[in-house]
Amino acid sequence: MLEEVISSLNLKRGSIVVDGTIGGGGHSQEILKTILPGGRLIGIDADAEAIKLTVQNLKDFNGSFSLINNNFRHIDNILSKEGVKDVDAVLLDLGVSSYQIEDGSRGFSIKQDSRLDMRMDRRLKISAYDIINRYGEQDLSEIIEKYGEERFHGRIARYIKEARSKKPIETTRELAQIIRKAVGYKCRNQRIDPSTRTFQAIRIVVNDELSSLEDGLKRAIFWLKTGGRIAVLSFHSLEDRIVKNLFKGYSALSVLKIITKKPLQPTREEIIRNVRARSAKLRVAERI
Ligand SMILES: C[S@@+](CC[C@H](N)C(=O)[O-])C[C@H]1O[C@@H](n2cnc3c(N)ncnc32)[C@H](O)[C@@H]1O
Repeated sequence: MLEEVISSLNLKRGSIVVDGTIGGGGHSQEILKTILPGGRLIGIDADAEAIKLTVQNLKDFNGSFSLINNNFRHIDNILSKEGVKDVDAVLLDLGVSSYQIEDGSRGFSIKQDSRLDMRMDRRLKISAYDIINRYGEQDLSEIIEKYGEERFHGRIARYIKEARSKKPIETTRELAQIIRKAVGYKCRNQRIDPSTRTFQAIRIVVNDELSSLEDGLKRAIFWLKTGGRIAVLSFHSLEDRIVKNLFKGYSALSVLKIITKKPLQPTREEIIRNVRARSAKLRVAERI
């Protein structure tokens, strides 16, 4: 949804833009092409490797951007340090990047067998390994229900507890196999791997994703100039609900005008090209 995202931000030459989830810099390249000369981009990512990659990918635009390795929930500090007074646009493209998924050492993907980790920011103290091997059965069950919206949460938590009583659960493949056993025949014929929802739940907890989103969004809105735009691309209903409710709340307070009455979603062609886009929703609002 690159084109929709870029056009929704109403950018012009000279705009100051925050990309709060710069990833590999794909969106930021297009942003920079639109705002230069005269514009400035502040790119944030919790993942130090994303920042390294973006340094490479944006080298043609050197001098026009700053990159900050931090969680976007700290946007107040970040922008104050950058000496920025206000901004024309903020983009949040949530979740994990294809680089993180494809990197076999990060533990994000069911398809790559790797040590359970899932930390976007490797400075975080708790990884997926700690949650899977140390949290009590009841806590696991609640996490998987709440953040994975997984109806077999109780069975999955029980199977995890049984498996780790024999030996620690070390890898993504081991965890996926335990989950498959737990949900058993009930999930045959499903298009999506039965462990997808549990992996999502654990990742959300490891990275404190929903509170980060809520905090970051609330703060980002107040950095926008009048007429400035914020666009959020979310990938599951829990994220989308937060964005929708916050936009609604600030619209009732006359702080924001909602631009997308209904979220924009990818076309069928885009989903065929990129299956990960299937649950993407883009919501855009403008500062009043
Ligand atoms: C879907 S990718 C972004 C891809 C990017 N738009 C591009 O075009 O390459 C999401 C990125 O956001 C980062 N991220 C997720 N939540 C974050 C947060 N709360 N603070 C900072 N970065 C975050 C992830 O580390 C990941 O690199």
